[in-house]
Amino acid sequence: MRVVILPTDQEASNFVADFIEKLIIDKENAVLGLATGSSVLLTYEALIKKYQSGEMSFKNITTFNLDEYIGLKPDHIQSYRHYMNRKLFNHIDIDHKKNYIPECFNKDYELSCENYESKIRQNGGIDLQLLGIGTNGHIGFNEPTSSLNSRTRVKTLTQNTIKNNSRFFENNEIQPSIAITMGIGTIMEAQNIILIGLGKHKSKAVADLVEGPVSSFCPGSALQNHGNVVVVLDNLAASNLKLYDYYIHTEKMYQEYMC
Ligand code: F6R
Repeated sequence: MRVVILPTDQEASNFVADFIEKLIIDKENAVLGLATGSSVLLTYEALIKKYQSGEMSFKNITTFNLDEYIGLKPDHIQSYRHYMNRKLFNHIDIDHKKNYIPECFNKDYELSCENYESKIRQNGGIDLQLLGIGTNGHIGFNEPTSSLNSRTRVKTLTQNTIKNNSRFFENNEIQPSIAITMGIGTIMEAQNIILIGLGKHKSKAVADLVEGPVSSFCPGSALQNHGNVVVVLDNLAASNLKLYDYYIHTEKMYQEYMC
């Protein structure tokens, strides 16, 4: 696991955007796994700027989002489809027909999940999966005690996640408490994974993910078993890491000898 610690959220996000850009330069028809939430917002802004300045194009890119709330139609303002259109897709030259998000409005959820897994396979799998992390260690909506081999499925959200995400909802708005999420096994099949953690409130989950035992109690810790993971943190999110100085040193060595 490569752990990159940068002073600010902006620098961490720029690093992630550069990483995505490099992947797309190497493989212009790459398949990206994408996330929603606040941790990825500055990354999406940086990608939009790269597109607007002519630095990169997304026209041959296919995307698969991690998750979607059950019961929200794609045009619902709180749906993750709406979020992705607003925060990224509407601002770049991506083909909207190739932006997949779990279908949560048709009642046959099991079929939706199976179809999602097949679609990923038909597209050759995910080249790079972008992740955030929940304060409880979740990745996607794989809540604590999720099977580390889980596939795309319906998941009931914890009170902790519902409370954390309530900041996105107005008082009178219905907040869904179930979702379809890629499983941990699905995420682990991505060729490369990049996770961004920002802010002090993520520091415990980040420490559990990077340095804790591999345990379904911290679903993100499964990433310790993946060979190509980069964890990108701002200083605050890194502040609970026992080997903080070591990660700073190894990244310096990496930049000196590998770049
Ligand atoms: C969102 C997702 C979640 C978030 C996590 C962190 O698609 O899969 O795992 O990445 O809940 O959310 P923020 O970034 O809002 O703190």
